[in-house]
Amino acid sequence: MQFSALIIVIAAVFNSVDCSKILLVFPFPSPSHYILGSSLARGLAEAGHDITMVSPFHEANPPRNSVYKDVVLTGFVEEYKSVSANMFRLENISPFIGIGVISYIGYEATRKTFEHPNFQKLINSNEQFDAVIIEMFYSDALNGLGHHFKAPLILFSTVGANSMVNQLSGNPSPLSYIPEIALKYTATMTFWQRVVNFLFAIVSKSIRNLVVLPAHNRLMMKHLPNIPDLSTINNNFSIILLNSHESTSQPVPYVPSMINIGGYHIKPPKELPKDLKEFMDNATEGVVYFSMGSNIKPSDMPDDKRYAILNALGKIKQKVLWKWDEDTLPGKPENVKLSKWFPQQDILGHPNTKLFITHGGLLSTTETIYHGVPILSFPIFCDQKANAARAQINGFGFTLPFSEITEEKLSDILAKLLNDKRYQDNAKRRSKLMHDRPVKPLDLATYWIEYVTRHKGAAHLRWSSMTVSLMLRRVWGCEDQDSGLFVPEQNLNNLSG
Ligand SMILES: *[C@@H]1O[C@H](CO)[C@@H](O)[C@H](O)[C@H]1NC(C)=O
Ligand SMILES: *[C@@H]1O[C@H](CO)[C@@H](O)[C@H](O)[C@H]1NC(C)=O
Repeated sequence: MQFSALIIVIAAVFNSVDCSKILLVFPFPSPSHYILGSSLARGLAEAGHDITMVSPFHEANPPRNSVYKDVVLTGFVEEYKSVSANMFRLENISPFIGIGVISYIGYEATRKTFEHPNFQKLINSNEQFDAVIIEMFYSDALNGLGHHFKAPLILFSTVGANSMVNQLSGNPSPLSYIPEIALKYTATMTFWQRVVNFLFAIVSKSIRNLVVLPAHNRLMMKHLPNIPDLSTINNNFSIILLNSHESTSQPVPYVPSMINIGGYHIKPPKELPKDLKEFMDNATEGVVYFSMGSNIKPSDMPDDKRYAILNALGKIKQKVLWKWDEDTLPGKPENVKLSKWFPQQDILGHPNTKLFITHGGLLSTTETIYHGVPILSFPIFCDQKANAARAQINGFGFTLPFSEITEEKLSDILAKLLNDKRYQDNAKRRSKLMHDRPVKPLDLATYWIEYVTRHKGAAHLRWSSMTVSLMLRRVWGCEDQDSGLFVPEQNLNNLSG
């Protein structure tokens, strides 16, 4: 295969003409956020760009034939693990409190990022970038990095279009049919749900505009010298990459600066490790895959729920793969195989997989749609309840609130999901929708990022209906500065320069 290596080298040489230096900042210490950041970084590196990646994780396996630099926020993962409480207890926390908690966690992660010596070194260096990509996860102060490095700002939304992203981009999002992501509603809300949606939007927008953004503004001013106000910064992004797609989310309006790239992190299926492959190939009745994701520790669940699940799973004729974080599980039935880690995407891609029991996280949901596998969700927090509700309304999933699990209920639902072919058919149909797109989502993301670097920003995509946030910006007392809206002369100068 030396010939192909030669082609790569030649391609790299020719590519280097358009090679851009791109900074990515994904500071949230959770593996699922890192998967999103590193998949994007890897795709850009493979397209020939120089990558600097800020995150709590070290990339053990950086893409070859490219410049890929890690700035590791050391200590973040350990600290996150040490404070992580029993997540199952968060299930019934009110979303009104949840929004405060997540805003606080996001602020703290942002503050610690700014104070981290490795990050300090980066912002005090003379590094230059052609684009800065920031994961927008309650971390607004970081958006100042675009201005700081004199590079166009590209935002990345972990969960697709939500109220923060919509406010920032001026995207129309009527509360009558666009539920807040922290609620467990779909587009078809009852009257009462719409009332709650409205009240929740008022509370969350007030917290964000009156408390969170001013705090981030102060944090940004403290660490980045000579920077304009955060409202100016936030108003001057070029594009927002959304981790969503019509096949995974409901159809909603999108302004031109919003680019849907959901599913881009999914890799083509690989061969499974030998023992797992044999286990799955042998499962003539099919396999049920059970994983609560990378943040929730399944061994934290109360005993009665564990017994109920074990008993129900022990009675089905399918084999079960259960991602379990301890070495043993007392009472484990014959048909259940445990592991602390499974190659999730490759398992979902195996033809014998019949059902995915999940916490309903967005990555898991996207992957299951990609592979056309129905789901049973036990959603716990954040967007999980909304993802689960959408899967149910789209007919490829069923939601059982964790606190309501009993052996009997679970057995009934398993029987329905495993025997009623309509769930399989709907999952397969969704999968086809996800695959039927004009370009692969990672190529789309790369295209738009290159587009922004080529045109030195994308002010011409800005939506001019920013009046509501303008008013709110005045409430927290900042001047309405030049927001980078379309100015013809300035742009022509940019183009000729
Ligand atoms: C707004 O973004 C453009 C394009 O990246 C940049 O040229 C301009 O300096 C930015 N304005 C501010 C205030 O950061
Ligand atoms: C798969 O089936 C073969 C043949 O029946 C058997 O020898 C083997 O042990 C089975 N493997 C597993 C992992 O169950």
